[in-house]
Amino acid sequence: MIFENKYWEDPTTPHLGGEEPRAYFIPYPDADTARTRERNQSDYFESLNGNWKFLYYKSMYAVPNEFYKTDDYKAWDEVFVPSTWQTTGVEKPHYTNLQYPIPCDPPYVPDENPASCYVREFNLPLGWEDKETYVMFEGVNACYYLWVNGQFVGFSKGSRLPREFNLTGVVQPGKNSMAILVLKWCDGTYMEDQDLWRFTGIFRDTYLLSRDKAHIRDYFVKTYLSDDFRKATVSVELDTVGSPAVEATLRSPEGEVLGTSSVQGTGKMEFSLEEPILWSAETPVLYELELRSGREVILTKVGIRKVEVDENIFKVNGKAIKLKGVNRHDSHGEFGPSVPMDSIVEDLKLMKQFNINTIRTSHYPNNPRFLELVDEYGFYVVLENDMESHGMGCVEDLHKLGILQEWENTFMDRIRRTVERDKNHPSVIIWSMGNESGYETNHIKIAKWTKERDDTRLTHFESASFVYSGSEDTRYLDMESRMYAWPKEVRTYGGKWTKKPLFLCEYSHAMGNGPGDLKEYWDLFYEYDDVMGGCVWEWNDHGIKIGEKDGKPMYAYGGDFGDKPNDGNFCIDGLISPDRKPHAGLYELKYVIQPVRFTAMDLNEGKVQITNLYDFIDLSHLLVKWRVTCGGKEVAGGVFEPLDIAPHAEEIISLPYTLPARSAEEWFLDIDCVLGVDTFYAPLGHSVAFAQFALPVEKEEKPRKEGNYPLSYEMGEHTLFISGQDFSYELSLISGYIQKITKKAVTLSDAPMTFEVWRAPIDNDMWVRAEWEKRGFDKLQTKAYAVKVAKTTPEEVVVTASLALAGYIYYPYAYVDVSYTFHRSGEVEISYQGKQGENVKYFPRFGMRVQMPKGFETVEYFGMGPRESYLDKQNSNRMGVFRTCVDDLFTDYVKPQENGSHCGTKRVSVTNPYGIGLLAESKTEFSFNASHFTPMDLTEAKHNWELTKREETYLSIDYKMSGVGSNSCGPELPERYQMNEKEWNFTFTLTPVVVEG
Ligand code: GAL
Ligand code: MG
Repeated sequence: MIFENKYWEDPTTPHLGGEEPRAYFIPYPDADTARTRERNQSDYFESLNGNWKFLYYKSMYAVPNEFYKTDDYKAWDEVFVPSTWQTTGVEKPHYTNLQYPIPCDPPYVPDENPASCYVREFNLPLGWEDKETYVMFEGVNACYYLWVNGQFVGFSKGSRLPREFNLTGVVQPGKNSMAILVLKWCDGTYMEDQDLWRFTGIFRDTYLLSRDKAHIRDYFVKTYLSDDFRKATVSVELDTVGSPAVEATLRSPEGEVLGTSSVQGTGKMEFSLEEPILWSAETPVLYELELRSGREVILTKVGIRKVEVDENIFKVNGKAIKLKGVNRHDSHGEFGPSVPMDSIVEDLKLMKQFNINTIRTSHYPNNPRFLELVDEYGFYVVLENDMESHGMGCVEDLHKLGILQEWENTFMDRIRRTVERDKNHPSVIIWSMGNESGYETNHIKIAKWTKERDDTRLTHFESASFVYSGSEDTRYLDMESRMYAWPKEVRTYGGKWTKKPLFLCEYSHAMGNGPGDLKEYWDLFYEYDDVMGGCVWEWNDHGIKIGEKDGKPMYAYGGDFGDKPNDGNFCIDGLISPDRKPHAGLYELKYVIQPVRFTAMDLNEGKVQITNLYDFIDLSHLLVKWRVTCGGKEVAGGVFEPLDIAPHAEEIISLPYTLPARSAEEWFLDIDCVLGVDTFYAPLGHSVAFAQFALPVEKEEKPRKEGNYPLSYEMGEHTLFISGQDFSYELSLISGYIQKITKKAVTLSDAPMTFEVWRAPIDNDMWVRAEWEKRGFDKLQTKAYAVKVAKTTPEEVVVTASLALAGYIYYPYAYVDVSYTFHRSGEVEISYQGKQGENVKYFPRFGMRVQMPKGFETVEYFGMGPRESYLDKQNSNRMGVFRTCVDDLFTDYVKPQENGSHCGTKRVSVTNPYGIGLLAESKTEFSFNASHFTPMDLTEAKHNWELTKREETYLSIDYKMSGVGSNSCGPELPERYQMNEKEWNFTFTLTPVVVEG
């Protein structure tokens, strides 16, 4: 009877028959093969990945009793392992954030508990017969039973943690069979309530290991440094099965033998090093430790480094450093949590390209091979335990499981498997106890155990920071941690020197169009020595690929599969798309954490200070490129020799340019630090850091170009017709709006050019949206109180209109006096004074929109580009002249929303392929957008693949577009970024033009 004992509902029993946890390693027959890190090349490794026979049952009670004895499974389905039931179509995917997908009744789970049987045969490799055989499961969700040759071997929970079973005596020479029963729900479900798609199955690698009878069971490499960092001790604690003779060799990063040592059985070895080369994320230098016993060689990389909190300051190798981090899940658009190694490599290289130095493995240990790469590539890792019981907080008490004594084994089992598995990785500098689980006795116990087990790392647990319920013993935690603390809270904390250093384990919620507050946070992180930095939430969007449309992947989010409860698109909140395309927000992050700071000292003289913000390396790997532009055209430039500015030091450089006193154009200095060498993550020339400075050149007014052909006008019943040399306008005397524009008989617009206050809500507007809709910003109606033709001469025609903008039910939300001055050149100067109506907090935007017919695709602008730019999301962009097209201005968010605007604009033209079109200009910066979608199109679509592109081009010229912030989880949009003015004025010109390309 498989289910006689209800182990799956028994938190006192995290497993049956499993081995003690140990470090991740693979034994090899020799060091050279071990160095390849190709596990399949080891004679002692046999992967069980591949196709397994598979049967799914809606309820575990439907599973035939002795299914594991059957050899009649030829007709079963087949499934590739590793994978999940949801990514292979066995079950529909389900996304929920904190709400439990099952009734909250710990430790009980539904009796209708889906189950899958996995069966396969394997041949025991020759030479394994007289040795010990183990099987390792790197990740199975949620719990599983294991039989080999019909014999019960064990049971385990803890989805993202490894479990090893000894099969010696159970396996036989030749053919063997293995049967696994995976259940979807167990008490572990209460501990694995992370914000993610709920995936089930054998989703990580599974393999057999052959070990000598007497072998190294586990080892713990620790490094200690003298106060001056000139001497290091590498200690190796060994735990063995039997009492094998173990020989150890420590090699330098270049492969030179630095020392050897030996021990018989369980024991300890030590190596002393003079002038060690230290490991850091910037200098990922690895020594090599070779452990030999019997026929086995185990190789491990050793990074020598020291992590500490010194007087409330977080330090690595004695230096105060900042953690420039992101939160990363094991997540893939097609394979879910079974992320192929190539995709992991791609993530890590992208992170390197974007100046990221820290990864929090939210919210569980990743694939163990991820850490081997991370050690080598150079990242600091906040390694998190597989534990989150967030859903408890929805119903009663977030702390509850931490109080209950019967859950202690579960708590201990998880933290031990986490720490033991990854303890030999230098990149892991902080152990995180888990996420959003409260803070009570059991939590304190795991923190205490961790501190006692490992004296070379720090501990973290954000859950200890809020709603204490009695036990407030945080002495085993080395830092204060917060998520989504507002900048003002960071300011309140910073520099007080009273507590532990502050770490923002999550900040700047990167959902949709955003985040807009990165700079603000980073100014604070740099200001306060006792603030360690933080990790943006989060690295990637977790869309699930459900097909392709027009060559583009279609991604689904919560609710798309009828899944309940669900949290919609809250899983689409990353810095990159599911298929790893960086969002503009990632460029913003790259800019604010860039390792070089540029400060203008004297721009007339070309003097700029360069500060090296790296902690351990100079700048000699970078080239400094500079250029001066006038009206977007380069007029001077050059490349500097590599600078050997020491870490945290600065130097003033002089750039040889001269400036005119006055110019009709704007002048800018751009400085770029680019890689001067090829690296594994980017080639020579890759931009690492940059700055742009507006140069002090006085602006000369360009004389207005007046045509000499007189203006004429004609008054229709309700329309004013204005025409000149080769253009014409129609203006409605009812609405006060221009309703038609032509140039050389080509229609540039044939619809009213109206005011516009609505934007398709971005995810960060989710809390203010209801208020906006209530006021009817999305249902704008214009009332014209008066429209007057004020002047009609052959030089100028002037029309004024007094308008009110409103939705329904309530008073108007804006009153606008607008004047249109038509010139002989064809230009119309549009000048308006706006006044906010009653009870308006802020507008999404305030501007006018011209609808152009089919055929106007070319866009050229002088403004903040090339990526979308908002008042609070423009740091990574620069002022420049950009030529693009309407399609390329569009930012394709999985859930459509306002996108693709450009603040800081002074001039924009939208033309047909022959240059005929409209030019908008202003002396003051404005925001523009040109799109094939209206704000309403984007508002109504739930997914990008539901959008149908219109032929028309909608050109928005906004006096102001509100900023984007990160309010979906983070702070409210600061007032200075809101379009909240009580009164405002704006003047711009619109001209039908022929632009020569
Ligand atoms: C945090 C949580 C994350 C994620 C985020 C919202 O509370 O730790 O896992 O849910 O909020 O996207
Ligand atoms: Mg949560």
